[in-house]
Amino acid sequence: MSDGSVSGRSLPVDRIVLGDCIAEMNALPPASVDLIFADPPYNLQLSNDLRRPNDSKVDAVDDHWDKFASFDDYDKFTRAWLGAARRILKDDGALWVIGSYHNIFRVGAILQELGFWILNDVVWRKSNPMPNFRGKRFTNAHETLIWCAKSQEQRAYTFNYNAMKVLNDDLQMRSDWVLPICSGNERLKVGGEKAHTTQKPEALLYRVILSSTEIGDIVLDPFFGTGTTGATAKRLGRHFIGIERERKYVDVATERIRQVVPVAAEDLQITRSKRQEPRVPFGRVVESGLLQPGQTLFDQSRRYAARVRADGSLVATDFSGSIHRVAADLQGLSACNGWTFWYFDADGKAVSIDVLRQKLRAEMAADDKPTPAKRPARRSGKVTPMPRRPA
Ligand SMILES: C[S@@+](CC[C@H](N)C(=O)[O-])C[C@H]1O[C@@H](n2cnc3c(N)ncnc32)[C@H](O)[C@@H]1O
Repeated sequence: MSDGSVSGRSLPVDRIVLGDCIAEMNALPPASVDLIFADPPYNLQLSNDLRRPNDSKVDAVDDHWDKFASFDDYDKFTRAWLGAARRILKDDGALWVIGSYHNIFRVGAILQELGFWILNDVVWRKSNPMPNFRGKRFTNAHETLIWCAKSQEQRAYTFNYNAMKVLNDDLQMRSDWVLPICSGNERLKVGGEKAHTTQKPEALLYRVILSSTEIGDIVLDPFFGTGTTGATAKRLGRHFIGIERERKYVDVATERIRQVVPVAAEDLQITRSKRQEPRVPFGRVVESGLLQPGQTLFDQSRRYAARVRADGSLVATDFSGSIHRVAADLQGLSACNGWTFWYFDADGKAVSIDVLRQKLRAEMAADDKPTPAKRPARRSGKVTPMPRRPA
């Protein structure tokens, strides 16, 4: 990782670039990143210190990077960074932007002006929001994330629907996410003080990245701050590019990401719909030597047994055929899924042959994963959404 500026037009993959995000994105090759996650300045327009009832000062966002002279100035800035982001996004890529009521409506309108196609607005409901100290308004307990495709026509974006459903205990994941704000050990400190006023929780980025990227994808964050996006991307086996103009944040993020241990490749495989999973014929298991011709398979109760033949068929007393056909015939059924019916012996333990299929699928996915430099335009996990109707 380095904070050096972009050299030539190559991609600074797994690096943090110190600089202004508009200039730095303009220096990157077009259509080169899979996902952009942006947490831009909110333009909070705080004129006075925010104080608690006991007169202590609230640690609010009053940083210089959040100050704009007018709405017009903020809109110009938003148009410039979103335009630069759109150019470097692959056609089938997607962009997430997070904001509060101060900026998200302006950002949303500009996104649409530029041709982005909004897929969802997700409400991040904070389970532990800061109270409204003066009691003059409702507690401001949420932020909004807008998720959009590059254009209405380019709708082959990644959405790992099944993985999101499993993450949500087998219930379809909704657009309201209840997650705590960043606190406790996760909150980075420098000299006992918060390292950054708006550090986002990793759980939020976990959901964003897991839902809308594949292993090995490149995720760019133009407002990198403490590097929450980079830390989560690295953990989930994705690449990141961070752009941040404050050196103190680059330093914090660099150290944070250095300490991240990525999840093991085999544990990163996600639940997919049957349609998305690569087909593995049983013959591949035999060809690859994971099972040997002559080896015996049996069902879980060890009532039935069959022998593996060199062509990937099974033979059992009166029957021979595919793993599915023999399993069905032995039980007198019209059909049976052989992958879940048959087991083999591994050091005295019965192991489902489906484990071998998963192993081959993981290998196929790993082989399929190109390095960032020679990455082709796209691969699996894509959806073409149904036309949307208001609820
Ligand atoms: C809302 S914070 C992002 C916080 C980040 N998501 C995290 O979890 O730490 C916005 C960040 O953008 C940076 N920033 C603001 N304007 C920028 C620009 N034009 N180019 C690069 N970085 C910028 C600020 O320094 C600040 O760290």
